[in-house]
Amino acid sequence: MLGFRSSGWRWHAALVLGSPASTSPSPIHPRVGPIVYLRRRSLNLTGDTGGGKRWCCKEPRETGVHGGEGRRLKSAAVRSPDAIEVEYADLNLKDFYGAAPHLGHVRIRQHVNPLSSSFSTPAEVPEWKSVFRDPTQPLMVDIGSGSGRFLIWLAKNCRERGNYLGLEIRQKLVERSQFWVKELQLENIHFMFANAMVSFETLVSAYPGPLILVSILCPDPYFKKRHHKRRVVQTSLVNSIAKNLSVGGQVFMQSDVFDVALDMRDQFDARSDVFEHVGAIDHSFLCDDQGWVLHNPMGIRTEREIHAELEGARIYRRIYQKHTQYLPCTNHI
Ligand SMILES: C[S@@+](CC[C@H](N)C(=O)[O-])C[C@H]1O[C@@H](n2cnc3c(N)ncnc32)[C@H](O)[C@@H]1O
Repeated sequence: MLGFRSSGWRWHAALVLGSPASTSPSPIHPRVGPIVYLRRRSLNLTGDTGGGKRWCCKEPRETGVHGGEGRRLKSAAVRSPDAIEVEYADLNLKDFYGAAPHLGHVRIRQHVNPLSSSFSTPAEVPEWKSVFRDPTQPLMVDIGSGSGRFLIWLAKNCRERGNYLGLEIRQKLVERSQFWVKELQLENIHFMFANAMVSFETLVSAYPGPLILVSILCPDPYFKKRHHKRRVVQTSLVNSIAKNLSVGGQVFMQSDVFDVALDMRDQFDARSDVFEHVGAIDHSFLCDDQGWVLHNPMGIRTEREIHAELEGARIYRRIYQKHTQYLPCTNHI
């Protein structure tokens, strides 16, 4: 199950399986509004009920004006880049711009077409030993990792918990992310220039350790109906996640575009033989009456999430868990 705790504890974003629910009361924070106190959460990789490894987020976060967690900025007039600098201040990434000024402001095209032939070649599987200090550790994959700050923050603050792999289709972003990884001397994170639609299966099936968490956070919306097939969450990706995720592993997805969130929800609901929404199995997750998870469980917001919330948008979240009694059904793959 997933739980948060702050104030005296540091925030945690970790996933626990099968441990008994014990939700603390939700006191009102005297300064900034309600804070949800849930249990620390950890991800049990073995399926035992005693708690396991945790995806933890060390930094304390305050609840902000929009009711979510995170170091919210209270004025809508605050610019996204400033808000991002504040939220990710402890990474000190600005310090590294001097060493590579061209990486400070990466100019990229707004969207690419993942179905074009230039993105159809699967990424080469890396020598895992050369990219992770210990490639047998549990793996979290972030699909569409964007700037990479979100995953770097997790990798830096949760070093002992496993490895982090970011898949991103825009090469310049990957180059900058990898530059930051090197400067921060992190040995548990790697970014790859890859079209997740064609490379996810190849990469994760070749990883030596267990896949325990997949995140798909604010994927590109491709609003036009004729472009929906460019959206990263397609049946083949869902089936590949279903196949490769460890039993008890989880999928965290969110979008500020309701139609995109619905689309992702429908795709994962269609594999109810494999996935169960956490709201149905763990009442310590706070969901609205439609089953959207109300809080980001990771303890840090993604850049798109920060931007969207500054604009007053709502984030729609779902978290799925692979059934503990899942029996592989190969005809889906
Ligand atoms: C809107 S951004 C969100 C980035 C980040 N997850 C966040 O929430 O801030 C979506 C990202 O997904 C990437 N992307 C889109 N399609 C992709 C694909 N097929 N494979 C890998 N990355 C993809 C885009 O290049 C972009 O960086």
